[in-house]
Amino acid sequence: MAEAAKVVKKQFNGVVYSKFSDVPSELIVSTFVGDKVIEGIVSKCQWYTERLTQEEVTAKMTLLINLLSRRERLDVLDFGGGIGQFLFSVEKYLMSANAVTWNVFDTEEMIAVAGKKAKTKDNLFFYSRLDAIQKADLVFLRQSLQVLEDPRKTLKEIVERFHPKAIFLCGVPAGLNEDYLSLVLAYGEEHKGCPCWIFNEKKLVHFVTGLGYVLADQFMENITVDLSDFPARYHLDREGKNHVKGYVFLREGMTIRI
Ligand SMILES: C[S@@+](CC[C@H](N)C(=O)[O-])C[C@H]1O[C@@H](n2cnc3c(N)ncnc32)[C@H](O)[C@@H]1O
Repeated sequence: MAEAAKVVKKQFNGVVYSKFSDVPSELIVSTFVGDKVIEGIVSKCQWYTERLTQEEVTAKMTLLINLLSRRERLDVLDFGGGIGQFLFSVEKYLMSANAVTWNVFDTEEMIAVAGKKAKTKDNLFFYSRLDAIQKADLVFLRQSLQVLEDPRKTLKEIVERFHPKAIFLCGVPAGLNEDYLSLVLAYGEEHKGCPCWIFNEKKLVHFVTGLGYVLADQFMENITVDLSDFPARYHLDREGKNHVKGYVFLREGMTIRI
């Protein structure tokens, strides 16, 4: 009997761009608010609520939030946080969940979806304008830095506006390669998707430390990106394993009082 051919779905379109405006506009689609994607996020919120094990990012965020919220209320800015899904992953491990306010910032489109789909919580708020957010002590970006048009400009704006105690970046495709941009293919699409940066790790870390932060933790996640369509120099590491990375930065001179 003939073996059924396995359809391998590519993650990227394999094209390298140097800036957002180079990506043909007809190839860009609203990847994050499609019905199937939102359905997946909503069911993940439920799964996060029920499961007992922690993934590495949740464990690290738990520790950081618990340390920072021991003596005073903590405002988290979950930048590109969708419908607030990460809060569901972390909240049950917090020593004082009531001491934490979770502010999600995302696109107008996503915030409108969150208004309909997110579970209501007393400490969960949604914003599509940064200037509407009062305070951010801990800034968290999971898999969202890379989809911003100008990630460095945004990080600088966040730091100047909020002067956060800590910045937690994770799910970041960063490595030995030079910075480049490509297109992550959207669910069910063969050519269309969303622009995504693949960073040079050294330059990214150097940029954030240059904003007045110290790199306190750096880790490799158990998630990989499929860069198999790109020549070796575009891969994150020499072996082409391409694990995404996480970084925790603390504001220079900041002490955590326990
Ligand atoms: C890959 S998803 C990650 C969602 C969430 N952080 C998580 O880890 O589950 C990227 C998120 O970034 C948001 N996003 C895209 N462009 C953005 C922008 N310019 N400003 C804020 N958020 C943006 C998307 O709407 C989406 O929620």
